[in-house]
Amino acid sequence: MLRTPLCDLLRIDIPIVQAPASPYTTPELVSAVSNAGGLGSYSTALRTLERIDHDLTRIRELTDKPFAVNFLMESFDPDAFALVMDHPPAVVSFAASVPQTHIATARERGAIVFSQITTVNQARLAADSGVDVIVAQGSEAGGLTGTISLMPLLPQVVDAVSPRPVVAAGGIGDGRGVAAALVLGAQGVNLGTRFLASEEAFPDEGRRAAFLQAQSEDTLQATILNRLFPSESDTFPLAMRSLRTPFLNEWESRADLTDSELESLRMQMMEAIESGRMGDMVAGAGQSVGLITEIAPAAEIIQRIVEEAEAALSHAARWSAPTPS
Ligand SMILES: Cc1cc2nc3c(=O)[nH]c(=O)nc-3n(C[C@H](O)[C@H](O)[C@H](O)COP(=O)(O)O)c2cc1C
Repeated sequence: MLRTPLCDLLRIDIPIVQAPASPYTTPELVSAVSNAGGLGSYSTALRTLERIDHDLTRIRELTDKPFAVNFLMESFDPDAFALVMDHPPAVVSFAASVPQTHIATARERGAIVFSQITTVNQARLAADSGVDVIVAQGSEAGGLTGTISLMPLLPQVVDAVSPRPVVAAGGIGDGRGVAAALVLGAQGVNLGTRFLASEEAFPDEGRRAAFLQAQSEDTLQATILNRLFPSESDTFPLAMRSLRTPFLNEWESRADLTDSELESLRMQMMEAIESGRMGDMVAGAGQSVGLITEIAPAAEIIQRIVEEAEAALSHAARWSAPTPS
């Protein structure tokens, strides 16, 4: 049975977190994961207040299990935070910065607080700020990512913040990845890309096909977005890992863009976000996309990953068995 102390802390059965991935974390996905014994996460980024209110109400209709609500500090909305704090979920997660005041508020309201980081120093900062769980995100991950991959990052973060629980994120697409993360000292895993390829997350056939066809090398860290939307000074330096799109193929490597070209691209991007077509330009996905061969219901994905992880852990244990004399 795949169980760690993190399960007791969060009151869940399986140490698998469905990562917040804006704007794809539908109430159906979040509740399906929580109902299957994991922890679903709802991302507030790129959502209006009305939509957040509606979606949280819907999640609570669909599940009475714990779930997380996420704030990406790149696009933090204080009104959305106030709304969520009126009726705090079991877990509140922050990414891209360590907002000490909001961490304290969420903890005072009884939520368990996750902080997603991409370096050891950021992990120490988060631990010193009182967060309950550190999410160590490797650069293989989809969405906003740092530069250090999970294999070197995770054991260093585990050592730096011990005994605080660490959840591993980035590049984990099946149960073998889960087993590896647990062996490296994580108490749980945070899977974004794998759950995006679930029945509950993706209504769009074109996007499904792109996910099934993509290899790991079809993703890139798109720095053009940082030029279009420079980040706030107190957020971590991050770049969006996305599938290659015609937009990124055309503009990502153009170092010579003029101010007016940048302004025109910024307008195109804003229009795409407002009309729900952002995925045509930037399609956040991690390197684990190469492991995905089918779109399945979230509960089935969890069940399969648990079976694979258990098999991988017992398989690996054979290598440390005493040699017969
Ligand atoms: C499309 C997409 C959007 C994301 N948006 C967010 C977000 O709003 N907030 C956040 O904390 N993390 C976000 N992430 C990062 C995930 O929470 C997680 O760290 C990552 O997906 C884990 O790596 P994986 O994609 O390899 O599983 C996003 C990831 C993806 C793929």
